[in-house]
Amino acid sequence: MNKNINLGIYNQGVIALSGKIGVLLGGRSAEREVSLRTGAAIYNALLNKGYDVVKIDVAGDFIEQLKSENISLAFLALHGPYGEDGTIQGLLEMLGIPYTGSGVLSSALCMNKIATKKMLVYEGLPTPDFMVIDINTMKVQGPEATVREILRQIQLPFMVKAPTQGSTIGVYFVREVKDIIPSLNEAFLYGREALVEKMIDGVEVTASVLGNFNPMALPLIEIVSATGVYDYQAKYTVGLSDHIIPPRLPEEDQEIIKGLAVRTFVALGCRGLARVDFILSGDGKPYILEVNTIPGMTETSLFPDAAKAAGIAFDDLAEKLIKLALEQ
Ligand SMILES: Nc1ncnc2c1ncn2[C@@H]1O[C@H](COP(=O)(O)OP(=O)(O)O)[C@@H](O)[C@H]1O
Ligand SMILES: [Mg+2]
Repeated sequence: MNKNINLGIYNQGVIALSGKIGVLLGGRSAEREVSLRTGAAIYNALLNKGYDVVKIDVAGDFIEQLKSENISLAFLALHGPYGEDGTIQGLLEMLGIPYTGSGVLSSALCMNKIATKKMLVYEGLPTPDFMVIDINTMKVQGPEATVREILRQIQLPFMVKAPTQGSTIGVYFVREVKDIIPSLNEAFLYGREALVEKMIDGVEVTASVLGNFNPMALPLIEIVSATGVYDYQAKYTVGLSDHIIPPRLPEEDQEIIKGLAVRTFVALGCRGLARVDFILSGDGKPYILEVNTIPGMTETSLFPDAAKAAGIAFDDLAEKLIKLALEQ
């Protein structure tokens, strides 16, 4: 153990960093439990690789620990707000501690589904039609007018989403008029804006992208949920969701999706890794739903599965992410 982070010459950047890696995990988001599992898996992988590793729970007075542990690199195993949204990235920038994954702006953009979709539209990347409902506007207009306006722009069925949550928290399937206002009110529990997005009935496929300047898409995964909805329970319970590799799609379609995933990664300024989630309509047209800059890394997670399909073992993936974090 106590292997130094001595990675020699890696692409253009000369890296000779030695010291401890802090695995930042837990935190205060609704996805704390998933983060603890991702963090534990990463911690074990880095121990297996011989690194000097310490776990740092980003809850309570973690800044003291962050400073006193004197870490040389932060491995971010956090999900959701305060972990995946640019805030911890900003803190680490100010402390001069390198970290895995995307930077401040990219993290913030990808954490917010509305901001992500606006970027996608600008770049000509396909995403389901949407509109944004602001809590104030709804208060001023009243619920009836809000419902009318939504139905004028987006036909039922549609999704209502709290834009900055993950793991299907704050995501509602709206099929009937009577459910519109209650789901908006639920979404407003998380913030002032709600995303209303056309529901696409089709196959879900996720593209894991790895790299910095020349990112590559790993093998795609088709996701099938035993419960019909790929929700929190399905995602984190072994056996409740199936990962189908390769997806049951023609080779050319898979290449198109991979290409869109890489373009999305670049357009949003991602770094290291990201998972781009797609849904395919009945006629096979792919739509980008969201970008996860710190995807789950538990034993049932998609990104590690995609890496495995590309011949990258979990421990090697963890080490690769450190190398990418240090690449200049
Ligand atoms: N526009 C949509 N049409 C159909 N299903 C959707 C749509 N958006 C989301 N879903 C379903 O809800 C799940 C969670 O939505 P997503 O936007 O990916 O949020 P999260 O951040 O919670 O993963 C998706 O995996 C998918 O099953
Ligand atoms: Mg998702």
